[in-house]
Amino acid sequence: MPSSTILVLETNAQAAAIEGPLTRIGYQVTTTADPDDAVQRAGEFALVIVDVSSGRASGVDVCREIRSTAAFSAVPVLCMSQTDDVEERVRYLEAGADDVIAKPFDSRELEARVEAVLVRFHRSRDLAPLVRADDGAPTRRSIIACFSPKGGVGTTMIAVNVATWLASRAPGRVLIVDLDLQFGQVATHLNLKPQLTIAELARDDQSLREPELLRAYSIEHASGLAVLAAPGTPESGRLITSEQVNLALSTARTAYDTIVIDAGSELDERSLAVLERAEAVVIPIAPEIGALKALHSLLEYLTEVGSAAASATFVLNHLFAREMLSMKQIEAAIGTKVEAEIPYDPGLYLKAINEGIPIVRGAPASTPARALGKLAAAVAGIEEGSASIQDDRRGRLGGLRRRG
Ligand SMILES: Nc1ncnc2c1ncn2[C@@H]1O[C@H](COP(=O)(O)OP(=O)(O)OP(=O)(O)O)[C@@H](O)[C@H]1O
Ligand SMILES: [Mg+2]
Repeated sequence: MPSSTILVLETNAQAAAIEGPLTRIGYQVTTTADPDDAVQRAGEFALVIVDVSSGRASGVDVCREIRSTAAFSAVPVLCMSQTDDVEERVRYLEAGADDVIAKPFDSRELEARVEAVLVRFHRSRDLAPLVRADDGAPTRRSIIACFSPKGGVGTTMIAVNVATWLASRAPGRVLIVDLDLQFGQVATHLNLKPQLTIAELARDDQSLREPELLRAYSIEHASGLAVLAAPGTPESGRLITSEQVNLALSTARTAYDTIVIDAGSELDERSLAVLERAEAVVIPIAPEIGALKALHSLLEYLTEVGSAAASATFVLNHLFAREMLSMKQIEAAIGTKVEAEIPYDPGLYLKAINEGIPIVRGAPASTPARALGKLAAAVAGIEEGSASIQDDRRGRLGGLRRRG
């Protein structure tokens, strides 16, 4: 997209290596060596390239600062990592970089990546209403994780229904990732038989980094929900690393507006990475003392490791026909408030799983579907209003709240 304006922050007087090739193919390049200047003027350009190898602010700091400025959320940031080290690239991606190029780079790679980032941003801006914050500014996509310290309490059912509900309002723009890496059942809940899974994606380094390539690993459900399925076998799941999970999420975040993750019930470095990354964590709890104790230990652990349980939504899932514990007892046992409840039903949930049609789609008027839709709206930060998925099939994710 020559004629686009690009700001290059280059602290080591080698701007020509970036400026030259880009000017040659028609971009209007402005360079600066001052990080403050770059942060201040980012909004005036179609793209910012950050190449910082010395000085008081690191490239990661500069990138994070630009990304944390709401007014610049439509400006992509491309960062130059000084080495080929994966850790450094991940730090940039975590700071919100839209792409990272390792030095030394070939000028053709630079041109291709600049073009890809610009095309991606133009396209998402054209598509996008996008997602607007309460103050009217566009909002970044959300990452919503469902995790429970105990299995069998409805984690997958909730993740699948939340994702399906969100996808019906924004078809093609919501991805569910099954990170229950041992025996994930998201595809079963949706009656899908994926050829590719996150295990194959994890082995494909390029696709972990390229949004369009990553998309090819998902399978589309009739609701418009994209599904990245769990590994076919527990062995292949074991090989997936937290770095791969992090990379996949960073890239998926560029390819989709919202990512819902079934993080299962096993706490390891992969699920911890997810809890760390998620902007909202849904924690289903069953009214049963074992589940409550497990949750209490989890919360203590997360506090200890300084993890992000602060953004958690506790959902009481009424798994049993008869109530044996009062809400008061439950809140006392976990030491925090329960924000949402999912009602008991003797057959609806089972039927939905057996048929592979989530309740919000198969029985949208039922009480469980309404409760699940309400939960989806609350965690994604959507104003409810037309909460029934059939009210607004082409509807947009208006009102998603900005993180923090
Ligand atoms: N509110 C409810 N009322 C009745 N049954 C429910 C309810 N919620 C979930 N179930 C049932 O509980 C079972 C477990 O649900 P689900 O697979 O979603 O849980 P999970 O926590 O993901 O389990 P796992 O640890 O096996 O992954 C399912 O058979 C589902 O039908
Ligand atoms: Mg499950």
